[in-house]
Amino acid sequence: MLIKILAASLNHRDLFIRQNLYPGIDPSIPLGADGVGIVQSGSTPDLDNEWRGKRVVLVPGTGWDSNPLAPEARGRYVVLGSTKDAPCGTLSELVAVEAKQVVLCPPHLSNAEAASFPLAGLTAYRAVFTKGQVTSGTKLLITGIGGGVGLAALLLAVAAGAEVYVTSSSEKKIARAKELGAKDGILYTTPNWSKELKKTSGELDVLLDSAGGDICTHAVALLKQGGTIVTYGMTLGPKTPFTMQAVLKVIKRRMALTVEHRL
Ligand SMILES: NC(=O)c1ccc[n+]([C@@H]2O[C@H](COP(=O)([O-])OP(=O)(O)OC[C@H]3O[C@@H](n4cnc5c(N)ncnc54)[C@H](OP(=O)(O)O)[C@@H]3O)[C@@H](O)[C@H]2O)c1
Repeated sequence: MLIKILAASLNHRDLFIRQNLYPGIDPSIPLGADGVGIVQSGSTPDLDNEWRGKRVVLVPGTGWDSNPLAPEARGRYVVLGSTKDAPCGTLSELVAVEAKQVVLCPPHLSNAEAASFPLAGLTAYRAVFTKGQVTSGTKLLITGIGGGVGLAALLLAVAAGAEVYVTSSSEKKIARAKELGAKDGILYTTPNWSKELKKTSGELDVLLDSAGGDICTHAVALLKQGGTIVTYGMTLGPKTPFTMQAVLKVIKRRMALTVEHRL
């Protein structure tokens, strides 16, 4: 399908790519995983009849269709934008993608809204529901609520009826998170922030994190026995220890990725 792009969004991935932090990058392909556009034409008469003129959201990744645990074929999961084997990136006027890489754009979303949601939204969905198994009443902490994925996770978890706590570097972002339904929050720059937060939150079921660093130590302080850490990134560096205290507390660690591993 040939798509005329109406809106595209930037993702932290695009910055990491420019910093040479992702493997499998091809700089000759434009950046951009997320976009919304109008179908100009389909490559067969049937596709053309069905899709021409429709407003569509681009599905940012291919090669991960149905397995909840991980992509079906190792190394075959490809995200749009500066990736080897990806056909294009959304920071373009026109893109050509396979028909399975478009879905109808929900009419209630503006072009900008729909273009901002797919990759971060899908990561958040997998982190909250597939890996975190969050349901109504789950007590959940989302670290770094200023992040695109964290914010999407907050909206999804609140909609599901979870009790959500957040951390941030900014009081303003915590206040905004509360307006969006978070119960409480704390600056992650506070010494022993997890112990401080526990005074109001009590023990939690799930912790969603993409910072890494010493998150396991905080998880041991905050999570109930058998609780879950969901990791969807490691912004602070490519290693995060898992400690014996976490083993003794029978804490589970689950990975929720929708982009390739960072180097
Ligand atoms: N975006 C995606 O689709 C996607 C997909 C898979 C994986 N990831 C991974 O997820 C991570 C975040 O991605 P993003 O797109 O959400 O990035 P982003 O929008 O740039 O957000 C990054 C956030 O990280 C938070 N942060 C920084 N240092 C922290 C710390 N020490 N403790 C806790 N939080 C900290 C900050 O939160 P505050 O502003 O609140 O301080 C910041 O806003 C990255 O590692 C990325 O590789 C992203």
